Amino acid sequence: MDSSEIRTRFLEFFREQGHAVVPSSSLIPDDPSVLLTTAGMQQFKKYYTGEADPMRDFGSRNTASAQKSFRTSDIDEVGDERHLTFFEMLGNFSFGGYGKTEAIRFAYEFITDAMGLKISYVTIFQGSSTVPQDEESRAIWQALGVADIREEGMNDVFWGPTGSSGPCGPTTEIYCKNAAGQDIEIWNIVFNQFFYPGSREELLAGTPDKELQPLATFGVDTGMGLERLAMASQKTNTIFETDLFAPLLALLPRELDERKRRIIGDHTRAATFLIADGVRPSNRAAGYILRRLMRRVFALERLAAIPPHVIGAVVHEVIHDYGDAYPELKREGETIRREFDAEREKFLKTLDAGMKEFGRLPAVGATEAFTLYQSYGMPFEVIKELDPQKTAALTRDAFDREFTKHQEISRAGAEKKFGGHGLVLDTGELKAKDEAELEKVTRLHTATHLLHQALRTVLGDSVHQMGSDITAERTRFDFAFDRKLTPDELKSVEELVNQQVARDLPVTKAELPIEEAKKTGALYFFKEKYPEQVNVYSVGDFSKEFCGGPHVTHTGQIGHVRIVKEEASSAGVRRIRAIVEG
Ligand code: ALA
Repeated sequence: MDSSEIRTRFLEFFREQGHAVVPSSSLIPDDPSVLLTTAGMQQFKKYYTGEADPMRDFGSRNTASAQKSFRTSDIDEVGDERHLTFFEMLGNFSFGGYGKTEAIRFAYEFITDAMGLKISYVTIFQGSSTVPQDEESRAIWQALGVADIREEGMNDVFWGPTGSSGPCGPTTEIYCKNAAGQDIEIWNIVFNQFFYPGSREELLAGTPDKELQPLATFGVDTGMGLERLAMASQKTNTIFETDLFAPLLALLPRELDERKRRIIGDHTRAATFLIADGVRPSNRAAGYILRRLMRRVFALERLAAIPPHVIGAVVHEVIHDYGDAYPELKREGETIRREFDAEREKFLKTLDAGMKEFGRLPAVGATEAFTLYQSYGMPFEVIKELDPQKTAALTRDAFDREFTKHQEISRAGAEKKFGGHGLVLDTGELKAKDEAELEKVTRLHTATHLLHQALRTVLGDSVHQMGSDITAERTRFDFAFDRKLTPDELKSVEELVNQQVARDLPVTKAELPIEEAKKTGALYFFKEKYPEQVNVYSVGDFSKEFCGGPHVTHTGQIGHVRIVKEEASSAGVRRIRAIVEG
């Protein structure tokens, strides 16, 4: 069965079972705590938590989609038989519409009847100190005649949450065989029974004060990689021999080794989809991921002396093969080609010089690699690609540490750059163009710390910062919280902040090693990578946060703080604007 038929058959199967078919959301998610869309359930988070009503939006409690997904966690594995960065996830979702029995039966019927495949075995959740073993799923599988049922734990069969908080729960997975007789995980069926007010890392580590909370409605969230399903259905040994990849790889020179062909195929396809969704190559966030994918392709192209029209043909093939299912590829076709050409040109300007420099170095560790990145725009993956022996000691962690150290230095540099042209202060978070503005944003910055703590005091400790932006006019503060604040809550927050101003609390700074700083209970961004030494700012006994400054020395300098607006910023994230007066 070809993959476009599989896609259609999946969506039709669930439509017939009363599901509303919903288009894929963008690879750039609404949730600011997640860089790229990693799963089908992300666009439905607010239906699981009850913030939005599926009946109103879809006319059904059940939906299905084929979702564009991207996982950076697998980037170093690409080139083997089954890892990818970009992939398509087929999924069905229910927000109080059905339970475990139907979810498992639908999956069983789709795999065995609609696809004609044999299930090798399934997994169920073995239980943990907080969540019981999933005996119900075992009984359902047994009743369907599936005999091989294996138990696994939190790491493997407990999904979520994605981002900084969200729905999560135990899962049951289906394994089928590929042509080589290997068992491959095909489908992950999640039972969203809980909400966790923190990240997955915090959940697995067992963070004090953060506990699983039961969700009011039972949720089902499933995900099946189209590439793996196609491999099982088309009886191939790897995903790269399916019709999703074979036509792309056929365009590459036959003598190129298999690993490199797969990397080029995966990265070119992924970059094409990212550009169509509006990502552009840059040195930060999603743009940096795109740049790394593209530059690795261009480096392999250069090393193997592949003429540029070959990658052009691969891009063309992606647009052609996927353009019916994802029309944005056709619409953005010209832009995609232009971005590929422009990024190649930019990169090739420095690549030769970079390779020469690389050739001169006896060995390349993290420091040398980072210099190569900074001077010649060569990302980690490209450097690794040049010579496995010479870069044997180079690890991604060490490279990332160099990267973070450099970002900290440039941020500190920006803070000190007073009196020149343009902005006197630009930390990314705070911006001021002259001394008068600098004084104002400094007051607003300390006010923002007070606001953060006051929100936690009034609304609970699940509140945490998702972002902030401070100009001389106002502070804009985004935080995780799942509903609108009441007028009374806003009033309490504002009063609490102004009480701290009236107390004229001292603001103090301590420079501490990161691990010690974390033990002080200071608030920090889980998303961010911190250097070895961090600054912890305390406002009297009221607030404590990791921060780069600047701050007032006493809260009395802030003046009166007024909240001027409270609104939704995105799913599960609220935004407050506040000003200082006087
Ligand atoms: N959200 C689940 C996953 O992505 C289904 O595996």
